[in-house]
Amino acid sequence: MNPIIAMEYSDDRLRLVDQRRLPGAYETFECRTWRDCVFAIKDMVVRGAPAIGAAAAYGAALAALEYSALGAPEFGPAMRAALGELRRARPTAVNLMWAVDRMAAALDASLGLGPGRAAYERLKAEADAVLADETDRSERIAEYGAALVPDGAVILTHCNTGSLAVPGPGTALGIIKAAHRAGKGVSVYADETRPRLQGARLTAWELDREGVPVTLIADSVAATLMRDGKISLVVVGADRIAANGDAANKIGTFMLSALAERYGVPFYVAAPVSTIDFGCPSGDAIAIEERSPDEVTTIEGVRVAPAGVRVYNPAFDVTPAGNITAIVTERGVIRPPYGPAIAALRPGAGEGTL
Ligand code: MRU
Repeated sequence: MNPIIAMEYSDDRLRLVDQRRLPGAYETFECRTWRDCVFAIKDMVVRGAPAIGAAAAYGAALAALEYSALGAPEFGPAMRAALGELRRARPTAVNLMWAVDRMAAALDASLGLGPGRAAYERLKAEADAVLADETDRSERIAEYGAALVPDGAVILTHCNTGSLAVPGPGTALGIIKAAHRAGKGVSVYADETRPRLQGARLTAWELDREGVPVTLIADSVAATLMRDGKISLVVVGADRIAANGDAANKIGTFMLSALAERYGVPFYVAAPVSTIDFGCPSGDAIAIEERSPDEVTTIEGVRVAPAGVRVYNPAFDVTPAGNITAIVTERGVIRPPYGPAIAALRPGAGEGTL
């Protein structure tokens, strides 16, 4: 099975698999400008923490291309404005800020080159490096995580964390795919993941394509499965992990973690170090995105709630560190107490595996 390549940059444009159309259609969305990239991130053409970071990195490169004809005094401010908009496209996944900050550093390093094609080439090379870096991280996460999966495991997962959400095999889904390829005989219950249905539309599609046995469930079925002893482990991704191990992920993850705690089911979070916000002390400080009421009141454009009803639609929630059995990173598997384990992952705290 060919791997899914959800993003590709060539001929001065970014091509994304349009995740709004799956599984009905496999279409490409082209970003020719940095504003197209902002739109693609906001409208969830591309989604998933590492994927939106990489898309924003290419957005920064496209900004350098667009502004390459400007004089030096205008180039810097125009670039800063574009980077700011890319950084603010979505608020919760810190990979977005991490990638844009990396591009800002590359921009600073390139200012001596002046505007023109040279700065663009420098930023494009940095965006390629972000993409390659995240790909490499997810490959390692898959390997480390697969070692935690027992033979015959029945795995519950939430949202979509595979090759659509992450360059490479994915985080939680990368682990599942690696365990499957290792012949562990795993099977998966995939939460549909209301309201955007990433589990139904993307995870079920991605697992089916890989030949991993998958059963789709409404989110509310998870409690029954766990109570009945049908789940061996839960593995999910993360959009931002605080310094104390609290982890923001797709809305509904916290509920799963509480159930796993109650029924003694191991609960794993899989994420690259680029998802750790070392400056964020706890989950209380994580900005949680609220999205349009339409995501809840309509399904595929069909209204399913009374017009004008009040809606609360947070896109993420925070799983407390105390509910997390272990966090799988590209540097190895960390376990509680998370404070010191996470501090050891901080850039500059010493490289290598744990
Ligand atoms: O709103 P989304 O679809 O971007 O949310 C994605 C998730 O919550 C994923 O679980 C998360 O990004 C971690 S894995 C890429």
